[in-house]
Amino acid sequence: MEAAFASRTYRVLSYTFSLLVLLINPLGVSAGTEKPVHQISSEVCQNCHKEIYKQWKGSMHAQSTALKDPIHGTFYKKVVGSPIEEGVKHKASGKYPICLQCHAPNAAVDKTTKLDAKPAYSEGVNCVACHTLSKFKGTSGKNGKLLLGLKAYERKNELQGPQGFNQGLAKLVAADDMFGGAGSDDSKPNPHTQGEVELDGKKIPALPMAGNPGLMKTNAACMGCHDKRNNPHGVPLCQTGNEYAGSNVNCQSCHMPIAGGMADHGMGGGHNHAMLKRSVVFTLDAVKEGDNLNATVKLKNMQPHSLPTGAPFRNIYLKLSAYDAQGNVVWQNAEGHPAKDDSKAYFAYLLANDKGDPAMPPTATQLGADTRLKPYEERILSYNIPAKGTVLVRGELFYNLLWPVLVNKFKHLPEDLVAPESIAVAEVNL
Ligand code: HEC
Ligand code: HEC
Ligand code: HEC
Ligand code: HEC
Ligand code: HEC
Repeated sequence: MEAAFASRTYRVLSYTFSLLVLLINPLGVSAGTEKPVHQISSEVCQNCHKEIYKQWKGSMHAQSTALKDPIHGTFYKKVVGSPIEEGVKHKASGKYPICLQCHAPNAAVDKTTKLDAKPAYSEGVNCVACHTLSKFKGTSGKNGKLLLGLKAYERKNELQGPQGFNQGLAKLVAADDMFGGAGSDDSKPNPHTQGEVELDGKKIPALPMAGNPGLMKTNAACMGCHDKRNNPHGVPLCQTGNEYAGSNVNCQSCHMPIAGGMADHGMGGGHNHAMLKRSVVFTLDAVKEGDNLNATVKLKNMQPHSLPTGAPFRNIYLKLSAYDAQGNVVWQNAEGHPAKDDSKAYFAYLLANDKGDPAMPPTATQLGADTRLKPYEERILSYNIPAKGTVLVRGELFYNLLWPVLVNKFKHLPEDLVAPESIAVAEVNL
C-alpha cells in the first residue's frame, strides 16, 4: 500500500513537474531526459497502438519526406537540395524550405533541414505531427500570403485526441481516494492518464492528452496541409481543400473509415489501389444503329473533391476499344496515350508558362486546362464505332501518378510509380 502510495505520489509529482516545465518553456525543450512531444518517434506509440501504427506505416504520411518518397524527393532535391544537410535553403526564395511545413512537420518546428537527425523528422507526418495540432487558423494569412502546413495551426506540447480522457466526474465521486480514482485501471497501462508507465520492462514517458473533437473530427485536422499551396509564381498546386464542394461529409469519413472498431490510419489516396477503385462509377453502353455502334461512357466522381485530386500531375485516361470475334482490336479511341488523339478522354490538371505552353509545377506562371471531374460531376462521352465485325466493346480507366512527360523524364523512378494503373473496366458484348 505504502509503496503504491509512494509511486503514485512520485507520478503525480513528476507529472506536475513536467507541466511546470511546459509552462515555463512552451517548446518543451526540457533540461532533463524528457523529449518535447514533437520529437517523440512513432515507435513509442507503436508499443500500444500496434494496429494503427501498421496502418500509418503503410501510408504516404509515413513516406512524406524526401528520404522516403521518390517522387517528392526528386522535386525536393531540384528546388531545395539535400535532405540530410543542415541550413539548406529553398532556392527560389532563399528561405527555410516551405516544403517541410507539410512534408516533415517536426523538423519544421525545430527549423532544421537535416531530416535524418531524428526519427521524428524522417518519419514525416507521424503520430505526433497530427496529434499535437490544437487549432486550425485557416490558410489565409496577412497580405494575402498563405499559411502553409504547420503555419496554419496552433500546436500544443500535449497530445490531442478525438475524445480525450474526461475523468473530472470520476474524480469528484471518488472523494475518499485522494487521487480521485485517476489511473485506477492498471490492467491497461495508459501514459495519457497515468504519467510515466512501464510496459514489458520498457519505460514509456508521460504522454498527457487533451480532448479536441472540434479539430480531430473535422476537416480542420487535414486542411492546413491539404487546402492548397502556391508555387513561387502564385500558381496553385496541390489543392484538394479549395476544390471541396461545400459538403457535409468530412475527410475522415472516407479517408479514416472505422475498421476493427477504430479509425483506420491507412489514409489511402493516389498510391492506393482500393481507394482508386472506389473513386468512380464507370459504365458503358453500346447501341447498334445501321453501320454504327453508338457507345456512351459515363464517369461519375463520387467525391466532394476533384477526381483526380491532389498533386497537379495526377491524371486519369480512358481507353475504349472494339474487338472482333478473334480478339483483335478493330477500333480504338486513341493509339497509346489519348492526350493528343482524343483529349476529352484525358482528365488532368495542367499548368502553363507565359506563352501558354505546358510547364512544370515549380516554373508554371498560370493554370492550363483543368479537365478533371469536378466534385460529384457526372461526365458523359459519346463515340461512334464501326459496327461491322465488332463483337465486344471494352472501356478501361487508367490512373497515373505523373504526367506522361514526367514519366519519360524521371527514368530513375521505380516501375510501380510510373506504370498506368487500371482502376475500372466495363464491357459490352454485342
Ligand atoms: C494525418 C494525421 C494523423 C496521423 C499521422 C495520425 N493520426 Fe491518429 N487520428 C487522427 C485523426 C484525425 C483522428 C480522429 C478520427 C476521428 O475520430 O474521426 C485520429 C484518431 C486516433 C486514435 C483514436 C482512434 C479511435 O477510433 O478511437 C488513436 C488511438 C490514434 N489516432 C493514434 C495514432 C497513432 C498511434 C498514430 C501514429 C502511428 C497516429 N494516430 C497518426 C489523425 C492522425
Ligand atoms: C503504454 C501504452 C500506450 C502508449 C505507448 C501510447 N498510448 Fe495512446 N492510448 C493508450 C490507451 C490505453 C488508450 C485508451 C484506450 C485505447 O484507445 O486503447 C490510448 C488512447 C489514445 C488516443 C485516443 C484518445 C481519444 O481521444 O480517444 C490517441 C489519439 C492516442 N492514444 C495517441 C497516442 C500517441 C500519439 C502515442 C505516441 C506518442 C501514444 N498514444 C502512445 C495507451 C498508450
Ligand atoms: C502536417 C501536414 C498534414 C496533415 C495535417 C495531413 N496530411 Fe495528408 N499528407 C500530407 C503530406 C505531406 C502528404 C504527401 C506525402 C507524399 O506523397 O510525399 C499527405 C498525403 C495524404 C494522402 C495520400 C496521397 C497519396 O499520394 O496517396 C491522403 C489521402 C491524405 N494525406 C489524407 C489526409 C487526411 C484525410 C488528413 C486529415 C485527417 C491529412 N491527410 C492530414 C500532409 C498532411
Ligand atoms: C466520399 C469520399 C471522400 C471524401 C469525403 C474525401 N475523399 Fe479524398 N479521396 C477519395 C478517393 C476515392 C480518392 C482517390 C481518387 C482521387 O485521387 O480523387 C481520394 C484521394 C485523395 C487524395 C489523394 C491525392 C493524391 O495526390 O494522391 C487526397 C490528398 C485527399 N483525397 C484528401 C482529402 C481531403 C483533405 C478531404 C477532406 C477535405 C477528402 N479527401 C475527402 C475519397 C474521399
Ligand atoms: C501546404 C502543404 C504543402 C507544402 C508547403 C508542400 N507540399 Fe508537397 N504535398 C503536399 C500534400 C498534402 C501532398 C500529397 C497529396 C496531394 O497530392 O495533394 C503533396 C505531394 C507532393 C508531391 C507528390 C508526391 C508523390 O508521392 O507523388 C511532390 C512532388 C511534392 N509534394 C513536392 C513538394 C515540394 C518540392 C514542396 C516545397 C517546394 C512542397 N511539396 C511543399 C503538401 C505540401
